[in-house]
Formats: sequence, C-alpha cells, structure tokens
Amino acid sequence: MDIGIEKIGFYTPKQYIDIVELAQARNQDPDKFTIGIGQDKQAVPAVYEDAVTMAAEASNQILDSDNKSDIGLVIVGTESSVDESKAAALYLTELLNLPENVRAFEIKEACYGATAGLQMAKNFVAAHPDKKALVVASDIARYGINTPGEVTQGAGSVAMLISSEPKVLKLTDQTVYMSRNVGDFWRPTFSKTAFARGKFSNQIYIEFFETLWARYQKEFGATADDFKAMLYHIPYTKMGAKAMRTLDGKISAEKYAQLQTEYQASIKFGREVGNLYTGSLYLGLISYLLNSDVKPDDNLLLFSYGSGAVGELYSAEVVDGFKDNINVQAIKSVIDDREKISISDYEKIFSDSIEDGQSVDPETVTGKFYLKEIKENERLYSAK
Ligand code: COA
Repeated sequence: MDIGIEKIGFYTPKQYIDIVELAQARNQDPDKFTIGIGQDKQAVPAVYEDAVTMAAEASNQILDSDNKSDIGLVIVGTESSVDESKAAALYLTELLNLPENVRAFEIKEACYGATAGLQMAKNFVAAHPDKKALVVASDIARYGINTPGEVTQGAGSVAMLISSEPKVLKLTDQTVYMSRNVGDFWRPTFSKTAFARGKFSNQIYIEFFETLWARYQKEFGATADDFKAMLYHIPYTKMGAKAMRTLDGKISAEKYAQLQTEYQASIKFGREVGNLYTGSLYLGLISYLLNSDVKPDDNLLLFSYGSGAVGELYSAEVVDGFKDNINVQAIKSVIDDREKISISDYEKIFSDSIEDGQSVDPETVTGKFYLKEIKENERLYSAK
C-alpha cells in the first residue's frame, strides 16, 4: 500500500520585515544577513496569531467536507505551545469542524516535531488504510530583539493530509534516525524566547546529517545519484547549505552541482518567510515542488533535525500530478500578498500581547482564524 502526503498547505502571517532594514537597525553589514545567514524577509505574526491560529489557516487550505470526515488522527507539531497542558490540536478540532472520533494531540521535540507526527501518521494509515491523518507543523520562532538569533526568526504553518492515496509525495520505508541529549537550543517554561548555542547547534546539525547519511547509504545501499534532491531542515537558508557542503568531494562534481541547483529551489520560500522551526523542512519541500523541474517518480531525501537533539533522514517519491493537488495560487498569494512593516513597528508588535480579560477587535484581523480573547486565563479562538 502507498502512504504519503495527499495534500499540503501553507500559511504565514500577513506582515514581514525586510532583512536589510533589520541589519541596518542592528548596525550589521546587510551582506551578513542576506549572504552569511541567507535570508531576505522575516514573517511577523500579529498579536492575535499563534501556533493554533496559523495551524488552522494552513489546514483550512487543504480540508473540505469530504476529507474531514475521513480524518482519524490530528497531530500538531510545535515548540510554540500556547498551553502547558492542553494540546493545540484540540482547538483545531473545533475551529475546523473536525469529527469527534479522532485522536488529537500535540508533539514537541523542537524542529523535529512535525517529522515525528508524519512518521506516526504513516503508521496510523498503515493500520487504518481507510482513514486519513492531519499533521500540522506550526511555530513562531522567537529569539528576541537584538540577539544573534533575531535574524533567524520567522513564523508559519504547514499542514499535511496523510493517507493511502498520496497525490503529492509517497513516503518510502527507508528511514534512519538518531537521538542524543544535547544542549544546543532550548526554551525553559518561563521564557517566550529561545536560548541557543548557535554555532554548537550548527556543528551538531552537520554531525547528525553526516552520521545519518553514512548510515542511510550503508543500510539501503544508496548513493547520492539515487536522489533528484536533498531537502534540509532550514531554520535559515545557510544552514542546509552547510550540511550539503559535507558532500563536496565525496560525490561526483556533476551530481554535487545539480544538488546545489535543487537546493536553491528548496530555499526560495524560506528566504521570504524565515524560520518556521518544525515546519521549515516542509516549507522547503513545498518550495522545491513549486520552484524546480522535479518530475513524477523522482526520489527526494529529506533531512529533519530538532535541536536537543533528534535527526531523521528519510526518502520519498514524487507522485504524478502533484502540482494539481497543491493549491499553488493560495500558497503564492500567502507569500506575495503581504505588507512590509518598519523595524520599529515590528519591535512594538514583538513586545505586545493579549492579557487575561482582553479581547481582539475582529475588524483588525487579516486572516480567518484568531485569538478572540483570554477569559479566566483561557484562550478563546474564533473564525471570521
Ligand atoms: N558578508 C557575507 N557573509 C558574512 C558577512 C558579510 N559581511 N559577515 C559575516 N558573514 C558570514 C559569516 O562568515 C558566517 O558564515 P559561516 O556560518 O558560513 O561561517 C555567517 O555570516 C554568520 O556569521 P556569524 O559571525 O557566525 O554570525 P553570528 O555570530 O551572528 O551567529 C547564528 C549566527 C546563526 C549562529 C545565530 O544567528 C544564531 O545563533 N541563530 C540561531 C540558530 C540556531 O541555533 N538554530 C537552532 C535550530 S536548528
């Protein structure tokens, strides 16, 4: 039985900052941010947006009354949780009118969460071929104003419908993974912003990729020539490029050059949006599918990495007619139809929050789903 992604959707907030303007405001050389880090724009979520509302927006792009009734599993991968106890997936069941006979929960393991959800969904569909699973990656990457990580912030959500009728990507059984307790990135419960040992994180990310790629080749008798593209977790676009560099000199120069070309297609959207944390690999997948010359039956290798740390390297096959099953127009307009805001406006929004007893004027909301109010310390959401 084939299992994989039947539909995939994407949402990012309607406002962004220009990375050159951020560099100027922080007295940095813009080339450091655009070339050294590899970003152009950074999404800025509105005060009424969070992991729940963005997950609802991305999911709404791929769900209809037919496929909703087949869903038996709802997983939200996030490290920007809105509650220490209640799962973001539960708010989704109501906002999206999903059936009650589903298992709905949240997964956290930094940027690996969505991949954990995807592999779990694959197993679920294998056991229940007539059912579908909704897996959503949704995060706001926050390091803080004037921190080294600030340039690697961003926000957004990728929603994937996993089923036995994959119309975008078939997941193969070829996967290798590893876990190790590492202090490269964390966010204590008291903090809204992440703590990172950025350079150490780079080092572990690259080491995990090299280890898993060696293991993948050995276990499955694979070579780089088996893959049209290698897609990476890209919290900022320079990071995947660094992992890719480890292949230089180890594979043919021709294949290396081709993989680099494919990589450029996979980072096009990421450059425009910034860090999605656990959704970053999957935004890279969307970017690749829509901006490259990839063909049906081409094989892709996907590298997922979550600090802390878990890594997984797995393969997938592109399905015939994949573009007809992605709402290209909706995704393009999510990226193109945004408003640039000034660095000082971004700084104000960054420190803004909705407190207990406060509500949001629906007139100010640009999307469909929003945090309506916080009442008795409970977050209440609504759809416009
Ligand atoms: N022109 C072009 N490139 C420039 C430059 C310029 N004027 N100035 C610097 N650079 C390059 C550097 O050479 C470096 O490239 P390299 O990484 O290939 O060596 C890059 O820009 C970044 O410079 P660096 O001095 O290392 O930046 P930094 O000390 O500000 O830190 C990060 C950058 C990425 C480490 C920091 O933003 C961070 O910690 N981000 C969080 C990342 C993270 O931990 N993610 C974990 C999730 S996986």
